[in-house]
Amino acid sequence: MAPVYLDYNASTPIDPAVAAVMRPFLEESYGNPSSGHWASSSAKAALERARSQVAELLGCAADEIVFTSGGSEANNLALKGLFFLRGNRPSHIVTSQVEHPAILVPCRFLDRLGATVTYVPVDGSGLVGPDDVRKAITTDTFLISIMHANNEVGTIQPIAEIAKIAHANGLLLHTDAAQSVGKIPTKVQELGVDLLSIAGHKVYAPKGIGALYIRRGITIEPLIHGAGHEGGRRAGTESALLAAGLGKACEIAQEWTGMPATQRLRDLFWDRLRARFGNRIALNGHPDQRLPNTLNVSFIGHVGAEILARVPNVAASTGSACHSGQITLSPVLQAMGIAPDVGMGAVRFSLGRGTTRDEIEEVVDQLCRVLA
Ligand SMILES: Cc1ncc(COP(=O)(O)O)c(C=O)c1O
Repeated sequence: MAPVYLDYNASTPIDPAVAAVMRPFLEESYGNPSSGHWASSSAKAALERARSQVAELLGCAADEIVFTSGGSEANNLALKGLFFLRGNRPSHIVTSQVEHPAILVPCRFLDRLGATVTYVPVDGSGLVGPDDVRKAITTDTFLISIMHANNEVGTIQPIAEIAKIAHANGLLLHTDAAQSVGKIPTKVQELGVDLLSIAGHKVYAPKGIGALYIRRGITIEPLIHGAGHEGGRRAGTESALLAAGLGKACEIAQEWTGMPATQRLRDLFWDRLRARFGNRIALNGHPDQRLPNTLNVSFIGHVGAEILARVPNVAASTGSACHSGQITLSPVLQAMGIAPDVGMGAVRFSLGRGTTRDEIEEVVDQLCRVLA
């Protein structure tokens, strides 16, 4: 059987149209976008066009977009960039237990620098309760950071509701939209967020580029100091090559109409697995408030990594990690209160533009064979 890729939440292939807009910056155009002569004009134009394309997808102004090296940097810039301006004031951050390490680890770092952090719990489907967020707020809170959609189980958080709570308390709301952008609507006005992170390689753009939306009027301390690139928010000569790729990818995502078909394939996948495995499998994540491409399934009594090792031509992910021979349950599934014998058997299948019905049928057959 030909290799099947069902790990689009981990990364996506570069769309050919994205590669095409990048090619001139590999082969011909080399000027510095900040220079003022003929050699820089195509880079400068590409950079600003890309900024507008990203802004269009997020429904914001182009000058509210800062290019970064990816989702991790965008998250770090949001959290640390706001914290560093706090000076000596007590600083408290509210986040959730199911965030990506690109939020959790910066939070731990800020904790070492004197911030306090509250990690609000989630329910069994991975949902954050807006009331729990409200209760976590203290007089020292300056920031709430809750992810838009979870990378492992796909659960979509009630961001608009949390935004109302944040703003009623005079707080800023950041959301990590690395997984949601291009899959579900991510207009910043509708979400009501003040800062939002995206990662290029999750939307058919290359790795090494992402962006942070920073609402006009919000000041952050740069993480990288130097010249005044990106409106003084991130120093370093911008890559027109990577930005052009991200911009085109955002334009394509904006026009993409294939997501309902992806969702139907995802649901067919689940139906087929249910028909074959019955109650020996369990769905992890919210039944409907979930990314349309994501299917996290527990094969009860099995170990996810071992299942994947037995279907080596299927690329998918497992949240459980193996440390010195010991298998540990993914922190996300732990936070959801999933029992260890269920959670250990979790496999995340994430579908994308290239996924076909034949592939799904074939993967179901293979899983039946190895788990018979
Ligand atoms: C929810 C979430 N946030 C952040 C990141 C990190 O993005 P990047 O790999 O672009 O740094 C990822 C990538 O897996 C993610 O899924």
